[in-house]
Amino acid sequence: MARRGMMKLGMSMRGLGYHPAAWRHPDVPADGTLRFEHYAHNAQMAERGLFDMIFFADGIGLRERDEPRGSLARSGYELVEMEPMTLLPALSVLTKHIGLVTTASTTYNEPYHVARKFATLDLISGGRAGWNIVTSWSEAEAKNFNREQHLEYDTRYERAAEFVEVVKGLWDCWEPSSLVYDKAGGLFYDESRMHLLNHRGKHFQVRGPLNVAGMPQGRPVMVQAGASEPGREIAAATADVVYAAADSIKAAKTYYDDVKGRMAKYGRDWDDLKIMPGVRTIVAATRAEAQAKFDRLQELTDPLVGLARVYAALGDLSGFDIDGPVPEPQREAEVRSSTDRIMQRAREGNLTIRQLYTQIVGGGFYLIGTASDVVDGLQEWYEAEACDGFNILPPYLPGCCDDFVEFITPELQRRGLFRTAYEGKTLRENLGLKPHVNRHEAARAAASAAAE
Ligand SMILES: Cc1cc2nc3c(=O)[nH]c(=O)nc-3n(C[C@H](O)[C@H](O)[C@H](O)COP(=O)(O)O)c2cc1C
Repeated sequence: MARRGMMKLGMSMRGLGYHPAAWRHPDVPADGTLRFEHYAHNAQMAERGLFDMIFFADGIGLRERDEPRGSLARSGYELVEMEPMTLLPALSVLTKHIGLVTTASTTYNEPYHVARKFATLDLISGGRAGWNIVTSWSEAEAKNFNREQHLEYDTRYERAAEFVEVVKGLWDCWEPSSLVYDKAGGLFYDESRMHLLNHRGKHFQVRGPLNVAGMPQGRPVMVQAGASEPGREIAAATADVVYAAADSIKAAKTYYDDVKGRMAKYGRDWDDLKIMPGVRTIVAATRAEAQAKFDRLQELTDPLVGLARVYAALGDLSGFDIDGPVPEPQREAEVRSSTDRIMQRAREGNLTIRQLYTQIVGGGFYLIGTASDVVDGLQEWYEAEACDGFNILPPYLPGCCDDFVEFITPELQRRGLFRTAYEGKTLRENLGLKPHVNRHEAARAAASAAAE
């Protein structure tokens, strides 16, 4: 039976796209990540395609390593880009409906800063702000924030959980009716409806209140990305959206049921959370044309950049003939299971080094073909309830964003899988989420109901 309701879509528009050779594509502006027009075009195009949100993944340092030597200078991937929290308010002025979501790390920020900035973005954009909650995992970022090593896993997640609680608490400090602006009576705010947070925890001491209030969404939408036990628990407890890594439909369905199944114990309904796996799409008028677009990108991959993708698993292969067989790993594996998996793939397929890295560079969940082919893939996942929608990871920009809106959006609409107009004013409304209820207002309502 066809699933009812509409799928949700995000356009993940970081950088020049998600293929490492994107910057070399003839239609891609190599300097785009430092030009506002590049972001403006993609955001406006995604809005024309009625996307729920644009989405920025982010890092606070140059996370790629120069291994093998010389590869970094040729990669053009996540090297230089605009800071998204500064970028989004500008994009909000050029758009009217689309949600504006960016990543902010719980590892290298203070909750007060994050609460304040996203609250402000919500005000500027008329209720379209979203925060992607992550824990930073790289040594490169640690070194930009007074540390040599990144925080140990459990500590990172413990800090993240407390961080999120503080931010939520800060967003609730002012009840919606607290600001009375009574000029005649001389009263700016109602003292009984403003609340200090007085948080004293292991990682944070925050008194509050936040010095921003009145967010159109009550509070910004919260997105979570992280697949482990603690990641799933945070998602089930608090997230409105999960950006999930996609592998197979079966794994996605298991993940979906697992995370949604954890929500009831937090008093949340199945639909209070939208799970959106990432998918790369390449579409054209014919299947052959779409495949040619993909092959073209693959061919643009510089050998050193390709070798960088297998470095962690196999070590430095730059001294070998890339059109020869894959040699034994040149280093002790960092993650043994991934080394074993890659070696097995190379042996089974009798692959050359070039063939191996090309497969890896072009790996991940791709849908390539006509609009009908791509929508078949999206529909299959959606109807199997393996997701509530998708975070689109365009292999190169602006081309894959433009193509999505030209070819795929109309096909989704034709099949009744996607909206033909924005339903609401805010991101929360468009995602079909319940309105946020301020905790103090809820407590007041409960107390007065009990008194009656
Ligand atoms: C789909 C997905 C997207 C992520 N995006 C980011 C990101 O943009 N920036 C970042 O610093 N970390 C990002 N992360 C890292 C997570 O915050 C987390 O540190 C990492 O996934 C390890 O936690 P886990 O074991 O729970 O997955 C992402 C993780 C996933 C699975």
